[in-house]
Amino acid sequence: MRELAGKIVAITGAASGIGAATAVELAERGCDLALSDINDEGLQQTARRAEKHGVKVSTHVVDTGDRDAVYAFADAVVAEHGAVHMIINNAGVALTADVEIMSDENLEWLFDINFWGVVHGTRAFLPHLKRAGGGHIVNVSSVFGFIGVPSQSAYCAAKFAVRGFTESLGQELDIAGGKIKVTSVHPGGIRTNIAKAARFEGTVASKGGSQRGAASLFSKVARTTPEKAAKIIVAGIVADKRKVRIGGDAVAIDLMQRVAPLGYQRGMVRLAKLGRLLSRG
Ligand SMILES: NC(=O)c1ccc[n+]([C@@H]2O[C@H](COP(=O)([O-])OP(=O)(O)OC[C@H]3O[C@@H](n4cnc5c(N)ncnc54)[C@H](O)[C@@H]3O)[C@@H](O)[C@H]2O)c1
Repeated sequence: MRELAGKIVAITGAASGIGAATAVELAERGCDLALSDINDEGLQQTARRAEKHGVKVSTHVVDTGDRDAVYAFADAVVAEHGAVHMIINNAGVALTADVEIMSDENLEWLFDINFWGVVHGTRAFLPHLKRAGGGHIVNVSSVFGFIGVPSQSAYCAAKFAVRGFTESLGQELDIAGGKIKVTSVHPGGIRTNIAKAARFEGTVASKGGSQRGAASLFSKVARTTPEKAAKIIVAGIVADKRKVRIGGDAVAIDLMQRVAPLGYQRGMVRLAKLGRLLSRG
């Protein structure tokens, strides 16, 4: 989407982190916004920051795992703003659990939000983007959409699925004439609330580990700020990039899995074993 000013953009997961920062960045560029999240308090905070830039902002409490709610969100955006030109399917959650012990409940919770939320958001908004004569769909995957990681099977599966879904979608829309652009976003470690809000069931690799320990480790390795991530996402949208990687870690991981698709997995095992050794002291 070459020209952003005056466009109407819907964002999921806009109460915090990457979604909130992207909302503010787009407001600065003159976009009207329809912000959604399950966290109304956070939504209102993002809305106040965005409104300072003189754009129109609406807020919508929506659980992206709820298909009907997402379709109602799309209709409400058009009813309130008159049209919609972009959907950013960003809402996401994390879960640390080995396959053997992971509960079906947590696996379904994560998939409902991280995979089905993206599918619902895409399919609910697509007819409206066509009616507007063109637009942009931005789906947030992860570097864990490039590689598998121990204790992150659900998250990796959902993020791989988002990548596959988005790549297929992009090709279909190109065949249909290319008026709707598609971007798949792959952040590395971004300093947000994702690890604090994550569910934790346990893992062989970090026996004795905890939710707090995992969040503390994440805060040490996540190097990029949400504001920097938002600038990279918006630059990718303006350049109509099909794939956006955020951070040096994302670029390195993408390269690693392409150069050494088996070697990286051996490296992961070594790293996990070392972590287990160190945590035993
Ligand atoms: N932070 C990272 O290092 C990182 C890395 C790769 C990918 N991502 C992805 O980026 C996206 C944004 O995550 P973030 O890091 O900004 O995390 P965050 O926790 O700061 O923000 C996520 C937002 O999603 C919202 N949310 C959670 N469940 C929801 C639901 N059912 N319906 C609607 N909203 C819901 C939360 O309330 C929160 O506001 C996610 O898809 C995440 O998987 C993050």
